[in-house]
Amino acid sequence: MSTAISQPLVAAPKISEPAAFGRVAVLMGGTSAEREVSLDSGRNVLAALRARGVDAHPVDGIAALLEALSAKRFDRVFNILHGNKGGGEDGVLQGALEAIGVPYTGSGVLGSALSMDKIRTKQVWASEGLPTPKFARLRHGDDMRAAARALGLPVFVKPSCEGSSVGVFRILAEADLAQAEAFAAGYAGELLMEQMVVGDEFTVGIFGDTALPSIRIVPAGEWYDYHAKYIADDTQYLCPGLEGDDEATVRDLALRAFRAAGCSGWGRVDVMRDRRSGFQLIEINTAPGMTSHSLVPKAAGQIGIDFETLCWLILETSFENAGVAEVRER
Ligand SMILES: Nc1ncnc2c1ncn2[C@@H]1O[C@H](COP(=O)(O)OP(=O)(O)O)[C@@H](O)[C@H]1O
Ligand SMILES: [Mg+2]
Repeated sequence: MSTAISQPLVAAPKISEPAAFGRVAVLMGGTSAEREVSLDSGRNVLAALRARGVDAHPVDGIAALLEALSAKRFDRVFNILHGNKGGGEDGVLQGALEAIGVPYTGSGVLGSALSMDKIRTKQVWASEGLPTPKFARLRHGDDMRAAARALGLPVFVKPSCEGSSVGVFRILAEADLAQAEAFAAGYAGELLMEQMVVGDEFTVGIFGDTALPSIRIVPAGEWYDYHAKYIADDTQYLCPGLEGDDEATVRDLALRAFRAAGCSGWGRVDVMRDRRSGFQLIEINTAPGMTSHSLVPKAAGQIGIDFETLCWLILETSFENAGVAEVRER
């Protein structure tokens, strides 16, 4: 099936003067497990915005931000926190900022909260007829073996609400379940068990109404685990990941998946391509990394958007939320 997207078109900047952004908080760090990655992303964003003349300042964590905002020290927030449970990416921060009428980058409350929960994101996709691997929702104490038999091996088991490939298990044979069961015994949250996709892995950066060129991730090992993501330097990233109609299809699918989950502004959609069943949606990241190894900057670079311009364009998406304060004041 051929789709409408051929070449990504990213609108030219709408804002020409850096002063139009006012004083900008670049929110980074925080207390989540992804603190270090967030600090790395944040420093890059801060330097890029300052290089373009934006009055940008670093803020470490949500508590420090709220304190600064109560003293009215910032006009908008560039959010580059990564993480859940109030870690900045799961809707909690977004709700607080909506409540006090401060514009911010990225998805709103609903898109952020939903995307942090892999099971419920998949339920929305499935209800819209979007392809995602068959799955089971496991609550603490549920019988993992029975679920694996019902779905059929091989499967992946992972926490519904974590990131960075933490607690992700690849189960090829029933004997491999012991490891996942041991993890589950000490984990209170829900686990997602889903059929394993056998085939290539892609990620698609979303920017406004546009899907950026896909990136094909080729880990040296079997899958894109924590080591391949953050430690190994032999993971290959090919951009664009596909050609012709296939590339158009994966971009179109990613954009539809992003919108179906109520996301906006910018983000990244993980997709795999099963050798038999074709493209399968895996998950959405609503505050993707902006480090020198990160994938959204790579994809943007492929169509001629340099890092500074990308940061500027992302900051512009904060104006999508800017109606909030005016509505409240009426
Ligand atoms: N159903 C699946 N089939 C095959 N590989 C998978 C599947 N789910 C996850 N993976 C692998 O595990 C990695 C991490 O899973 P993902 O759902 O993206 O969680 P995280 O939030 O940790 O990035 C993926 O990048 C992919 O390599
Ligand atoms: Mg992922």
